[in-house]
Amino acid sequence: MTLSIKYVNTILRLVCLVFLVTPSIAKSASIQKLHIDNPDAKYIGSASCSSSNCHGAGTVQNETNVRQNEFNTWYNHDPHANAYAALKSEQGKQIASNLGLGDSTKAQVCLNCHTTNVSEERQSSRFRASEGVSCEGCHGPGSLWLSSHSNPSTARSELMVQGLYDTWNSTSKAELCLSCHLGDQNQRITHKIMAAGHPRLVFELVTFTDAQPRHYDVDEDYINRKKPYRQIKEWAVGQAQYGYQFLDLLQGTDKSENSLFPELSMYECHTCHHNPKNVRWNRLDGEKETPGRIKINGSSLLATQIIANVIAPEYGDRIGQLRAEIRKKTMSNEGNISEIANQGKQLFKTVTEILRSRTITNEDGIAILEQIVTVGKKGTLRELSSAEQSVMAIALITKDLPSNSNYFHASGDISNVVEGLYKVLSDENAFSPQRLKNNLKKLKVLEN
Ligand code: HEC
Ligand code: HEC
Ligand code: HEC
Ligand code: HEC
Repeated sequence: MTLSIKYVNTILRLVCLVFLVTPSIAKSASIQKLHIDNPDAKYIGSASCSSSNCHGAGTVQNETNVRQNEFNTWYNHDPHANAYAALKSEQGKQIASNLGLGDSTKAQVCLNCHTTNVSEERQSSRFRASEGVSCEGCHGPGSLWLSSHSNPSTARSELMVQGLYDTWNSTSKAELCLSCHLGDQNQRITHKIMAAGHPRLVFELVTFTDAQPRHYDVDEDYINRKKPYRQIKEWAVGQAQYGYQFLDLLQGTDKSENSLFPELSMYECHTCHHNPKNVRWNRLDGEKETPGRIKINGSSLLATQIIANVIAPEYGDRIGQLRAEIRKKTMSNEGNISEIANQGKQLFKTVTEILRSRTITNEDGIAILEQIVTVGKKGTLRELSSAEQSVMAIALITKDLPSNSNYFHASGDISNVVEGLYKVLSDENAFSPQRLKNNLKKLKVLEN
């Protein structure tokens, strides 16, 4: 049987398309966009970092200013080492099958966040995608700095030119984590993917850095080499960067699939998904809104507003206006979301820069804590995402403030109060804003 010429043409066209399309799909992975764009900087695989006198020691060493057992921490305790394996789990296969993607370990959309997904021409022979999110997934391609980075006389700026990613800078660090933990223009986690069975994404920079767990110490040496470290500041910059990237996603949201609304993953999941017998809405003082409206996930906008209210009040007011406008536009599908999101991005960029340049004092910390607790006691944290973010913030701020201070008063041990707050969130389907409010009453922020 001879193939018709038309059929052959179609195959040829498809083959060409595959060739044309594959490199650009691979290139669209956010990691490679964030990392250095130098064809000579190759990804060499974590085996290149794991010898015992480098980062593969069994236990923490005291010879250099880093722990040297980072590989073990990552391999044995860090979920990023299992990120590729997750694609092969029952859940991973089910998601891919529900989406009609075939083999989940070959689907670019999954690989982007579940491996160090970089184009073939940037991989050296020792690179393995099956390592998941490896050292270089965060620290950048290692070929050019592998031999120089352990020499203390090499300037950090020089290492960065060679491709070391700037994880010291909290904005860049947050941008990196969020590219996978929120998604960005190049790798979106859509409602379609979630409805196929993917977990809902939650992220907060400090809490998740601790949970990863950390493979470095914030000690005197860290502070000497880097900068004074303050969790409250790291959290604040993380929220502002989250807000920026959220607005960036919202800006492109007209590309939403299968819905009357902009992309549904940008919304509060539970405004659609919670049990209708568990009524969460009640009218707050002076509130004009009516019940039963779909709500955007505005948790990072609210947190950044609270931070700005304290650190740079004129920007707090502007974020407040932005929040109101975005809520309105995204409730009723009025269009023009792009324009307002774009303006919001400029605002958030400015606020991020201000936060990075400012010292956050204990008094700032307590004023921020006070606002979060007040908002919660008023019952404004009706949306699960804002409740989650507020509880994480309360946990880390109370930990960061001096323990012997009179800044706040908890009825009982503060760690028990925080535990109680986390318990309110333990079953998202049973989340009750009233219970959160009651638990918040156990924390009294004192006037300073
Ligand atoms: C935008 C980035 C992103 C994309 C795209 C993405 N994931 Fe994920 N995935 C994550 C993150 C982040 C987590 C961890 C969520 C958490 O626990 O906070 C995760 C968790 C998972 C889990 C649960 C893992 C566990 O240990 O519980 C599975 C399974 C999974 N993803 C499969 C997939 C599949 C299959 C695809 C492709 C259809 C995909 N993911 C696409 C970021 C992504
Ligand atoms: C998910 C991202 C991620 C992965 C994966 C990762 N790291 Fe890190 N690593 C970081 C961040 C973030 C920091 C801290 C940056 C800061 O606060 O200065 C860090 C810090 C370090 C430090 C201390 C650097 C210093 O100057 O004090 C070393 C050493 C290190 N990582 C090695 C590794 C090695 C080796 C691997 C793989 C086995 C690895 N990391 C995997 C994100 C990551
Ligand atoms: C290239 C994408 C990517 C980057 C960059 C990334 N992560 Fe992840 N992260 C994932 C995926 C995928 C998972 C889920 C892995 C699994 O469970 O199998 C995950 C899981 C986690 C978890 C466990 C969550 C849970 O619910 O158990 C923490 C904590 C975490 N990441 C923190 C961070 C931090 C902090 C950063 C930035 C320093 C970061 N991640 C950067 C993709 C990424
Ligand atoms: C505007 C309302 C709306 C929002 C907001 C929304 N969803 Fe959905 N979701 C739906 C609808 C409608 C379906 C289809 C339900 C069905 O097929 O029975 C669905 C289906 C799902 C399913 C599959 C349920 C099943 O049993 O088939 C999951 C999981 C899911 N959504 C998760 C999420 C997550 C996570 C979020 C937030 C990031 C979210 N949804 C936001 C309306 C929404």
